Amino acid sequence: MSSSHYQIDQRYHDEIAGQYDHVVVKPRGFPIDLLFERFETLFCSRERMLDLGCGTGHMLLRYAAGFRAALGVDHSKGMLEQAERNLAAVGVSNAILVHADLLGFVQQQSCSRFDLITCVGVLHHLQPADVGVLLAALRGRLSAGGKILLAEPITGADEPAAISEWNRRALGGSRDFQGEFPQDPDEAPLDESAWRAAVDEAGLRVVAENRMWECSTSAEFPTVQEREALRQLIAANPGGNILALLLGTP
Ligand SMILES: C[S@@+](CC[C@H](N)C(=O)[O-])C[C@H]1O[C@@H](n2cnc3c(N)ncnc32)[C@H](O)[C@@H]1O
Repeated sequence: MSSSHYQIDQRYHDEIAGQYDHVVVKPRGFPIDLLFERFETLFCSRERMLDLGCGTGHMLLRYAAGFRAALGVDHSKGMLEQAERNLAAVGVSNAILVHADLLGFVQQQSCSRFDLITCVGVLHHLQPADVGVLLAALRGRLSAGGKILLAEPITGADEPAAISEWNRRALGGSRDFQGEFPQDPDEAPLDESAWRAAVDEAGLRVVAENRMWECSTSAEFPTVQEREALRQLIAANPGGNILALLLGTP
């Protein structure tokens, strides 16, 4: 693992932490609901959840309350501080936040088993060789029937014009980080074939999957009409540049 790569990522996320929810999470809440829509019914036991690269707590806010205990791990203190505030604000009190490198953390937790492991928007921040190493380690951390939920931007087809037009009017088109930031981490969408090959090699199987075009809404809490319009837009424009995989063991 290259420590300088991860130091750059850590510093960057420390600096953007205060703006991350406004720019990234809140404009995309409903589209991500749609991306994960069918997955929750496939979770089995609800004892322990692990969220790797938890950032400001996005996935813990979605699911932690449904588990007996949850752990969030991130190497950015800034993101963890925001996560702590976000969880407290909605009364989620069963989540423990850990400041650590996620790969080191997973490798050290050799006795721990989890019913749900989430790692969303994180794999594309890792060095390519670490993706396979992480997936192989995660397989050994699943309880019987446990699931891994991954979602990442992927390379591929161009965004349809109708999606670009929608996004121009949505919050994602107008909100951006303000100010000067340290060096951007060298992030790029994942190659889908390489990602699936790493899943196979780790001995994991795809239980369910969904893909869609990255999009946001015109309000953080969109109206019923806007939600229905987005459902129809997504149905009319199959494919996508965001892929979510729910994995289990064979
Ligand atoms: C794009 S954010 C996604 C945050 C969150 N999962 C979400 O869905 O909003 C990526 C997060 O992964 C964290 N991260 C990246 N590489 C990491 C590593 N090697 N160890 C721990 N955290 C890492 C970053 O600090 C950042 O908070």
